Amino acid sequence: MTVSGKRILLIISGGIAAYKSLDLIRRLRERGASVTPVMTRAAQEFVTPLAVGALAAAHVFTDLFSRTDEQDVGHIRLARDHDLIVVAPATADLMAKIANGLADDLASAVLLARRIPLLVAPAMNPAMWDNAATRRNVATLRADGVHFIGPMAGEMAESGEAGLGRMAEPLEIVAAIAALLDDQPKPLMGKRAIVTSGPTHEPIDPVRYIANRSSGRQGHAIAAALAKLGADVTLVSGPVTIPDPKGVTVIHVERAAEMLAAVTAALPADLAIMVAAVADWRVAEESDRKIKKKPGESAPTLVMAENPDILKTIGHHEQRPRLVIGFAAETNDVLANARVKLDKKGADYIVANDVSPETGIMGGTRNSVKIVSREGVEPWPDMDKDAVAQKLAAFAAEKLNG
Ligand code: CTP
Repeated sequence: MTVSGKRILLIISGGIAAYKSLDLIRRLRERGASVTPVMTRAAQEFVTPLAVGALAAAHVFTDLFSRTDEQDVGHIRLARDHDLIVVAPATADLMAKIANGLADDLASAVLLARRIPLLVAPAMNPAMWDNAATRRNVATLRADGVHFIGPMAGEMAESGEAGLGRMAEPLEIVAAIAALLDDQPKPLMGKRAIVTSGPTHEPIDPVRYIANRSSGRQGHAIAAALAKLGADVTLVSGPVTIPDPKGVTVIHVERAAEMLAAVTAALPADLAIMVAAVADWRVAEESDRKIKKKPGESAPTLVMAENPDILKTIGHHEQRPRLVIGFAAETNDVLANARVKLDKKGADYIVANDVSPETGIMGGTRNSVKIVSREGVEPWPDMDKDAVAQKLAAFAAEKLNG
């Protein structure tokens, strides 16, 4: 995947993350892309047009009513003579304008006049991202086919607050641009996908937890494969040791309850593929102190409570994605169990795999699956997890488009 030769119109809006846009320009140019910068008035409070122009080696457009700029280029042409518009950072304010079709400055006018794909990299305080108004605007933008990279979790520069709101790193944005612009066919362009992956950890006390052997390899590979086909992907991952896939918005969670909250917050979507090995039970009363051995006392008994079923919740949700695919990890009666899950969970397809210890699938790199639907069973040959991911992404594209 490469951005070489691509023409990027970069709109910088006003947030502290604007300093990272300078690095983004450098990264894009060293990979052979050209960058035309547009800055909002607020952006110029954070970085100067001089610095932006020097790094881009290009004129910086700032003013809707500049007579020279309008004569030379014009905001309508600016909106068209490029391969992609990237807004980084995208403030809550600018996203509200795009969602509502406002055009009272150069950036918003260019965005309203666009006929090329748009990628936004939001950056804001977590409270702003969580606000109902922003959530509505994000849902509108997604429904309008706008692509998102981030926001990511992390500490905010200004306040030290943690939560979702940090802008994706420049190289993550470059990867998202490359995924959108490479010359591969993009049958999932304009589609939103949610993928869960990895195990969940259910705490017993501050130092102990209940876990399982899932590595996250299959779910992460599926998220990457969907992004490669043009989908805007949110991956909700439990604790794993593998790296985040490129070009995907990754939300890291620990327990099932957090995974469910992150998945429902990512709705609406066109498809959901639930690959995570979610713990079925959590410890009913998690101790806030380390449980200690006491002389003469017997071993503690853990009382368990049932966790929410994420696939089932999504499969029956009022905003249910058009295509819902689950996995069924079984050690026996694989097909019979998968068929039951199809109905119980409201899924369209269940990818059944036999995870008996002798298969080495759980935690391993290969997978042997069967696609179970109401129409029947389609066995796939034994493949590595990347190949299963690519085949499943193509399968999902065919079902959504066909
Ligand atoms: N799943 C989920 N939330 C849960 C449990 C499972 O979203 N709390 C999803 C998994 O991601 C997978 C599918 O449901 O897509 C099936 O998971 P599996 O563990 O095989 O099924 P369970 O519902 O846990 O049934 P059982 O353990 O009884 O076989």
